[in-house]
Amino acid sequence: MQIVMIQDKIIPAEQVDPVHYDRGIFFGDGVYEVMRSYNGKLFALEEHLERFANSLSAVAISGIDIVQIRARVLKAFETAGIANAKIYFHVTRGSAPRDRGWDDSLEPNFFLNLSEITDNTANRNNGISVSTHPDWRWKRCDIKALNLLANVLAANDAARKGCGEAILVDEAGLITEGAGSAFFAIRGKILQTAPLTANILPSITREFTLKAARNVGLEVDEKSLTVEQATGADELLIASTTQDIVPVVKFDEKVIGDGEPGKYARLLNREFSTFTA
Ligand code: PDD
Repeated sequence: MQIVMIQDKIIPAEQVDPVHYDRGIFFGDGVYEVMRSYNGKLFALEEHLERFANSLSAVAISGIDIVQIRARVLKAFETAGIANAKIYFHVTRGSAPRDRGWDDSLEPNFFLNLSEITDNTANRNNGISVSTHPDWRWKRCDIKALNLLANVLAANDAARKGCGEAILVDEAGLITEGAGSAFFAIRGKILQTAPLTANILPSITREFTLKAARNVGLEVDEKSLTVEQATGADELLIASTTQDIVPVVKFDEKVIGDGEPGKYARLLNREFSTFTA
């Protein structure tokens, strides 16, 4: 005999929709991607699919392959007909009674949501404020896993302080990345960002930002920064699929540069837009 209760209703166990037993809900046992289109063209589709394949393999989810995923993304994109779309999808290990161990025969669950991307021109033009938060995440942040509680708490803390992003700081006092973005500092002609380790997501926008930086004559230094180094920078930036490159004009109440988006933020965004055209 077992009892299932959903909200205030008792449901006969055999009538419970398997979605309630999704291991994504019980354990965050799944991986996801977020990609976008610009003016009707998907951007960096293969890069996102490759990262997704890496995430699936890192958490040993099988039973779904990238050929299927690509076909589903393309079908959703064609069906929606949204020129500037944000495409979220995830695969969880499947639905089963709550047990940490899993059966290899489980069928993964796929979910995709496609919507119009929120316009963030104002943030790109005016810059945003950010606040720091301890990086409470696990030790495999290179996997784009569904477990985002630490990111959610940090982002919410930043929002309550009137900031647009939380910048995560590890136990050694080094900045890893944003709660949902890559983080960069520019000093002189050097653009600095944390190196790709297991502590950060291999952000696709980060790669394009580094390419843009080299194209506009900046030298790239992949080395972690302290909070003090960040606040002393000429310019700070965050970057992500949903936001492109956004200047940071205030960092924990400290004004960066003259408090306005700097010249490299503008140049980098211009360069970045040549990749997405
Ligand atoms: N997040 N770091 C973290 C922790 C992120 O969650 C993201 C993006 C990035 C930037 O990665 P990319 O350039 O590949 O988008 C860096 C997505 C947008 C999200 O979770 O909604």
